[in-house]
Amino acid sequence: MKTAPTTYPVHELIRNRWSPRSFAPTAVAPETMNQLFEAASWAASAMNEQPWRYLYAHHSDTETFGKLVDCLMAGNQPWAKNAAVLVVALAKTHYDNGAPNGAALHDVGLANGNLILEATALGLHGHFMGGFDAAKTRAAFQLPDTLQPVVVIALGYRAEAEQLEEPFLSREKAPRQRKSVGEIAFHQQLPD
Ligand SMILES: Cc1cc2nc3c(=O)[nH]c(=O)nc-3n(C[C@H](O)[C@H](O)[C@H](O)COP(=O)(O)O)c2cc1C
Repeated sequence: MKTAPTTYPVHELIRNRWSPRSFAPTAVAPETMNQLFEAASWAASAMNEQPWRYLYAHHSDTETFGKLVDCLMAGNQPWAKNAAVLVVALAKTHYDNGAPNGAALHDVGLANGNLILEATALGLHGHFMGGFDAAKTRAAFQLPDTLQPVVVIALGYRAEAEQLEEPFLSREKAPRQRKSVGEIAFHQQLPD
């Protein structure tokens, strides 16, 4: 656990969520996966469009899981290949009438936020990865043009940091850091 050292008190789910790279081989139950997607589905979205879609494979789905690993950037593969589940979050970028949904990526992020906090509540961890080849993912899974791959999530139960090799071991042990509230939130006026 790398509980966030917050300045102000925030909910323990928020403090306890972090992005590890060391995953145990323990599978995630299908029921648990549905619980995570249910949590995601209750996010707010513009026009209640619910533009999030998820494509996922368990580690035991050898062929599909391997295809997903192949879509990751080289720096993510060495550790993400040990995750129990790989999930691609997809955004439906247009409304059914053809108009672009400018909030689609925002809303997928909201849903992912729900998903990851629900996972945290269940003792799971997740690690978002923008480091993947979207075009390769699109081709490998014959994704329709209407869906944009946004991020891949490595999910699973955490293992001890020591099973990682460098540079991942040091990153796993590094203290967590954030900008202060004073650097990101401004009452009434932005600074000059
Ligand atoms: C959209 C997005 C893309 C990310 N891409 C990667 C990635 O490709 N590889 C990686 O190791 N971490 C990736 N991360 C994880 C971030 O580095 C991590 O969330 C950040 O350092 C804060 O750490 P924390 O999640 O433990 O609080 C990504 C996170 C997000 C939200």
